[in-house]
Amino acid sequence: MTPQQIALVQSTFKSVASIASKAADLFYGQLFEIAPEVRPLFPADLSGQKVKLIGMLATAVHNLHQLDVILPAVRDLGGRHRRYGVTPEHYAPVGAALLWALEQGLGPAFTSDVKVAWSEAYSTLAGAMQGV
Ligand code: HEM
Repeated sequence: MTPQQIALVQSTFKSVASIASKAADLFYGQLFEIAPEVRPLFPADLSGQKVKLIGMLATAVHNLHQLDVILPAVRDLGGRHRRYGVTPEHYAPVGAALLWALEQGLGPAFTSDVKVAWSEAYSTLAGAMQGV
């Protein structure tokens, strides 16, 4: 990722952080619509899940410029995901739902540069989680 892309991801994450709970609802709603097969992997009550996901995303976003610092934690996260039943095929719909939720949350601020920057950030994290 370029320093500009990292800055874009960090500044837009700040904007959605104020509506984090709504963005998380949008994200899970979209994910279960486009990939209903992943719904059973999650607990019925998603409230704890939302807090964890947002917290982890916040940590990752803040450390994009020094990924080596969080890489061991991201790899461990990937290992736990395999144990949750997550397969490599699941990463694409999750990424798509994330981009879609960001687009809803950011509105016109979701420019094509922002989209590319977030796609890069997600691929980087998803790749590290899968040990790529
Ligand atoms: C960048 C990508 C992702 C991030 C940052 C992320 C983050 C997290 C975090 C922080 C947790 C809390 C539990 C833990 O720390 O082990 C979690 C749990 C979970 N995630 Fe992810 N995740 C990602 C991708 C995915 C994908 C692709 C799937 C596929 C459907 C998925 C499904 C799950 C499931 C099923 C749980 C456990 C739910 C439970 O039993 O409580 N995640 N995720």
